[in-house]
Amino acid sequence: MKTLKLTFAGLLLAACVAMAGEKPSADHIKWMKDLAAQNGAIRKGVDVEKNAKDMQATLKLVGAFWKTRNAPDASKACGDSFKGAAAMLEAGGDKEKMAAAGKMIGAGCKGCHDGHRVKISDTENEIK
Ligand code: HEC
Repeated sequence: MKTLKLTFAGLLLAACVAMAGEKPSADHIKWMKDLAAQNGAIRKGVDVEKNAKDMQATLKLVGAFWKTRNAPDASKACGDSFKGAAAMLEAGGDKEKMAAAGKMIGAGCKGCHDGHRVKISDTENEIK
């Protein structure tokens, strides 16, 4: 009986820890910085094709990480940005299509940040 109680207390503790913000891995922070750089370059029209492809590669890593966390909204948001990057590649320089693709990319970033990014200071973020 005692062990059962202890097991239960342990599970409860684990659940609380899981709900609180969590320090992102160095990898996750790097992926985000890469995405921001790729997105910035695309918006300025610098090496759009290369940056859209790089963004897709980064998003694959981000997507694989979030898949293990059982967070369907995060996975969907990641897919939205990925589709945006694909649309950017298909836009072929057409300004209107590029603007629409840029919106898709941004909606994916925002979609995941709204639910899973916790700002703890101007320079630090956590995962939830
Ligand atoms: C599937 C979820 C997800 C997607 C998609 C996503 N992000 Fe993030 N992002 C996070 C989380 C969680 C954090 C906070 C943890 C961290 O910093 O790694 C974060 C943090 C960041 C940061 C701060 C990094 C730092 O210095 O700590 C930037 C910049 C950023 N994201 C840019 C982007 C851009 C640009 C996109 C879209 C092209 C994007 N993110 C898409 C989840 C996501």
